[in-house]
Amino acid sequence: MMPPAVPLTLVCAMLCVSTCVALCPPRCECSESQHTVRCASVGLFRIPAAIPSDTSSLIITGNTIPRLDHSAFNGLQNVTHLNLSNNGIMEVGSHAFSSLHMLRSLILNNNQLVLIHPEAFSVPGSPLQELSLRSSLFNYTSLTDLITALRWGELTNLLRLDLSGNRLVLLPPGMFAPLPNLQHLNLNNNSLVAVYNSTFSGIDQLLELDLTRNAFRTINDEGLHELERLGQVRLLLGQNPYVCTCEVQEFANWLNSSKVRVGDADRLYCEFPAALRDMSLRVLGAQALGCYGKPYEEITNLSLHTSYVFLGLVLGFVGMVFLLVVYLNRKGIKKWITDIHEACRDVLEGYHYRYEIDSDPRLGHVPNINQGRPRNDPHLGHIPSDARITQMPSDVTL
Ligand SMILES: *[C@@H]1O[C@H](CO)[C@@H](O)[C@H](O)[C@H]1NC(C)=O
Ligand SMILES: *[C@@H]1O[C@H](CO)[C@@H](O)[C@H](O)[C@H]1NC(C)=O
Ligand SMILES: *[C@@H]1O[C@H](CO)[C@@H](O)[C@H](O)[C@H]1NC(C)=O
Ligand SMILES: *[C@@H]1O[C@H](CO)[C@@H](O)[C@H](O)[C@H]1NC(C)=O
Ligand SMILES: *[C@@H]1O[C@H](CO)[C@@H](O)[C@H](O)[C@H]1NC(C)=O
Ligand SMILES: *[C@@H]1O[C@H](CO)[C@@H](O)[C@H](O)[C@H]1NC(C)=O
Repeated sequence: MMPPAVPLTLVCAMLCVSTCVALCPPRCECSESQHTVRCASVGLFRIPAAIPSDTSSLIITGNTIPRLDHSAFNGLQNVTHLNLSNNGIMEVGSHAFSSLHMLRSLILNNNQLVLIHPEAFSVPGSPLQELSLRSSLFNYTSLTDLITALRWGELTNLLRLDLSGNRLVLLPPGMFAPLPNLQHLNLNNNSLVAVYNSTFSGIDQLLELDLTRNAFRTINDEGLHELERLGQVRLLLGQNPYVCTCEVQEFANWLNSSKVRVGDADRLYCEFPAALRDMSLRVLGAQALGCYGKPYEEITNLSLHTSYVFLGLVLGFVGMVFLLVVYLNRKGIKKWITDIHEACRDVLEGYHYRYEIDSDPRLGHVPNINQGRPRNDPHLGHIPSDARITQMPSDVTL
């Protein structure tokens, strides 16, 4: 009875081993020695169930998994690296990763996260050190969702955050404050235009900040002040469309004097104006930037200049209105001018006549001068100017 029992247990043991070895989700590749499971582009619609429980690295990429649920990763407490890139994930549910007690690295690149539950990243003990969301946020609502989830997740151990390629235009103030130990922040390839007073508040351990490939035209005083506050950080600012006018001078000076290390300071180039295109921002002096004199003089010069321009515009406008009014009233004005002209002529001729009469006493009493004029001629009575011409001097002499 004994001999057959041994082979039976052996068979059982072998069976177990074979099933244990075979315990790999269909179409996935499992490396038992490295505790790695890889399901790359195999047409999955959800996280497979039969993942070995000792897996430490789980790579599920290039599938179509619209939603991550609460129980998606149950029983996988040894997973440290989870790569879920390129799965078209739209929604991350509450506590989606909370059974992954050892999770250190979570890669969610190239998804379309429309909805991120506030407790999406809540994991007991918050072991997460790296979170990558490159080209993953669907729109600004997703960003605000993410900020809430970062706060609720209490990710106090997070060291790396990648938010590149998300078309971000605005970073809400203090959005990184829930990540007090963050060391590497990647905001590359977004559409950021400005850094504000508290954009990076609360992250005092930052070592590297990547702001390349954004939409900065310059960095204003407030932004420089904020970046300066980051102290030891290594900053990357290349491939932004810098506008090299006088306004950029402060920034250019800062590049040389800041205690922040700008890793690519020699590779910051002007995009505008065309004449300065591809010139290094750092070597451009005040002269080349069109700034003359001290900054204060510049400002007053500039405001004087603008006020002159404004005055010119106003005067031009007034002139045009005047011309328009003149044009519209041209008939009336013509008549008016004729009247004035005639009136003047009357007066002048009148005075001239009087002068002649006054100066030549011989003419004082000679009435036949007036008789030669059509003064009392009834046929010519319709010419009032002539009538007045003759009328006035006679009044004067009388
Ligand atoms: C998880 O890893 C630990 C230590 O590496 C090991 O002792 C334990 O058996 C593993 N758990 C599972 C479910 O494989
Ligand atoms: C995640 O998976 C993608 C696609 O397979 C791969 O290109 C990428 O290198 C992986 N990232 C990490 C951090 O493992
Ligand atoms: C983001 O997309 C979602 C889903 O389409 C929509 O409900 C939401 O209004 C969008 N938010 C913004 C700011 O456009
Ligand atoms: C930048 O981000 C956009 C939008 O997410 C993406 O399509 C593009 O491939 C990214 N470019 C680079 C060079 O990463
Ligand atoms: C920025 O905030 C600090 C306090 O946190 C304040 O002292 C400073 O005046 C602010 N700067 C600007 C430009 O608003
Ligand atoms: C910055 O320093 C470089 C050399 O170190 C110098 O050529 C350049 O003129 C300086 N730029 C400014 C704006 O001070």
